[in-house]
Amino acid sequence: METEPIKDPISIGVLGLGTAGRNAVKVASSSKYVTVAAVCDINIETASTIGRISNVPGYTSIEQLCDDPNVEAVYLSTPTYLHLANALQLASAGKHLLVEKPVVKDGSEGEALVTLAKDFRINIMAVNTRGRDAPIRAMARIVQEGSIGSVLSLTNICYTDWVIRPRFPYELVTALGGGVAFRQAPHQVEIARTIINRPVVAVTSIAGRSPSPVDTVGNYSALLEFSGGISATLVYNGYGYFNTAELTYGKGESGREFDPESSARLRQNESWSLDKYGDAGLAVRDRGPSTDAATSQRRWGFVGLTIVSGESGDLRQSEGGVTVYDKDGFHQEDCSMDIGGLDVDFADFYVALRRNDKLEHDARWGAATVQICEAIWNSHCEGRRIEL
Ligand SMILES: NC(=O)c1ccc[n+]([C@@H]2O[C@H](COP(=O)([O-])OP(=O)(O)OC[C@H]3O[C@@H](n4cnc5c(N)ncnc54)[C@H](O)[C@@H]3O)[C@@H](O)[C@H]2O)c1
Repeated sequence: METEPIKDPISIGVLGLGTAGRNAVKVASSSKYVTVAAVCDINIETASTIGRISNVPGYTSIEQLCDDPNVEAVYLSTPTYLHLANALQLASAGKHLLVEKPVVKDGSEGEALVTLAKDFRINIMAVNTRGRDAPIRAMARIVQEGSIGSVLSLTNICYTDWVIRPRFPYELVTALGGGVAFRQAPHQVEIARTIINRPVVAVTSIAGRSPSPVDTVGNYSALLEFSGGISATLVYNGYGYFNTAELTYGKGESGREFDPESSARLRQNESWSLDKYGDAGLAVRDRGPSTDAATSQRRWGFVGLTIVSGESGDLRQSEGGVTVYDKDGFHQEDCSMDIGGLDVDFADFYVALRRNDKLEHDARWGAATVQICEAIWNSHCEGRRIEL
């Protein structure tokens, strides 16, 4: 990580200003590695409001972003099923890309994204999964150092209310990259890939869908086999009854204090049928700045409970970072002030573009995550173990 001030941050445009795009604008605004040069959304009110707040042009068409010479790279946060087409248009205009998860809607589109990066000689980075969170990176480092011996298994169990939060219809359709197998599995998959640091060779899973209150894939239990016989068990349930935040110090995915009544309120209000962002455009999803200084600094929370088991110890994500269990008992590794998430993505992207360094989380990395998510879904549909 650079300690010197940066003289030549990468100027980015943000395309698609929903939950993900607004977050990107917010994080980029405080990053020294990137600067926001323009924003763009087909919703005129959203584009102009966020453009005005950010003091940059608020475009309403991708062509305007393509034509803007001040935009060197584009943060792609449109609906997943549009990513590949948007990427092609932006790549043709010579823009580098940072692409939200899942980078595309299925495995074959993943291969096309890899080809596109090569053919147009641009950098495509897969960004913003929780595999980048500081405690997960710390667990990867501890494993790398050999402190718990060879890894045997990883377990992540996550219960949320993803299914009953306000959603656009496309977010619920599996064939468009919707439902929890594509929208939430990338976080768990990249947590496992980051820590185990080997290729996934096979996937077995059973998924579930409840027709009510929202008809979508809302849960799965998946077994990922990594090379060398290491297993990752990933359990996700998004129906909003029990929430694993209860087990993780009252903190959920964002790191904010979890409100145990919130899911029941969503269900009572039937707010899943409301427009996702409300009439005011910005209202529904922006819960304002955190009042907890450490939380707003660290930008990580808990994607459920993560436990890593090695031949001579275990690791568990805990309140301030990681608890290490070994032959001497246990101790804490504090990560509360470590950078993680998009801050790390932006730093890596800067180094790749300005220093010509290889991107670790390139299009191939992002495509592999989508292929694993697709295997979680296909294993369920076909009732068999899928080899990758
Ligand atoms: N990393 C994360 O934790 C995270 C969180 C949320 C969403 N995402 C990902 O980000 C992407 C967007 O998700 P979201 O929840 O923000 O979606 P959203 O549907 O709420 O927002 C998408 C925005 O894109 C705009 N848009 C649609 N078509 C467009 C076009 N052709 N040109 C310009 N703008 C267009 C829409 O008007 C909307 O404002 C998805 O791929 C999703 O999986 C990632």
